Amino acid sequence: MSVVVLAEISLDNSIRLQYLEAMGVDVWIPRIAAPIEQQLTEEPVSDQSNTNSANPAHSDWTLLQSRVAACTKCALCETRTQTVFGTGNQNADWLIIGEAPGQHEDLQGKPFVGNAGLLLTEMLRAIGLSRDEVFITNILKCRPPGNRDPKPEEAENCHGYLLQQLNLIKPKIILAVGRIAAQTLLKTDAPLAKLRGKKHTFNDTPVVVVYHPAYLLRSLSEKHKAWLDLLLAMRIYNEIEG
Ligand code: URA
Repeated sequence: MSVVVLAEISLDNSIRLQYLEAMGVDVWIPRIAAPIEQQLTEEPVSDQSNTNSANPAHSDWTLLQSRVAACTKCALCETRTQTVFGTGNQNADWLIIGEAPGQHEDLQGKPFVGNAGLLLTEMLRAIGLSRDEVFITNILKCRPPGNRDPKPEEAENCHGYLLQQLNLIKPKIILAVGRIAAQTLLKTDAPLAKLRGKKHTFNDTPVVVVYHPAYLLRSLSEKHKAWLDLLLAMRIYNEIEG
């Protein structure tokens, strides 16, 4: 049986409760817990806690962050408010890759902070992971205007940044969130329904594909499949860990 500990009950939490129950996840509600909104706003843009300035990986990371922040490789630099590099633990075992920043992410400079982000946070929590433990980023570091799909050349331009993040983080497993992330990463046109439910690899790192939380918010019926995919990812991770 899977159990999730839910922060204190509020209007938002009652919706989260419904999501989790639809995924077949049991929910525990502790008496005292920080509201999820607070946890999200308190999250650092990038957790430096596992690094120090004498560590070469730290300077590589800082350099990469500033390269991304100053990127003008494509026209998205003209419409973005800011780049969205990613947040979380730069030594994470889990790398979560979404599609591209949306409006909220573009304004806040952090990935997955809107409604889809809330559900992603819950999906991670359902398998015992906090946003601070994992690293969350996107295929694109800039918001496509009107939230249109990334163009292939935009994804290509951003790919080097993702590869450098991957090389620095060295995750043990990658979760590709949604069709665009999965297709771009795995270089395939296959529909998500064909990609989910199995183990793929990217540069020797296992990849599990999950439905995008924005899609799950519209398609209640797919939530259970998303839960199965999270369990698959956890199983693969546990196998690696021995
Ligand atoms: N959707 C994504 O794929 N990424 C985000 O950061 C936000 C929404």
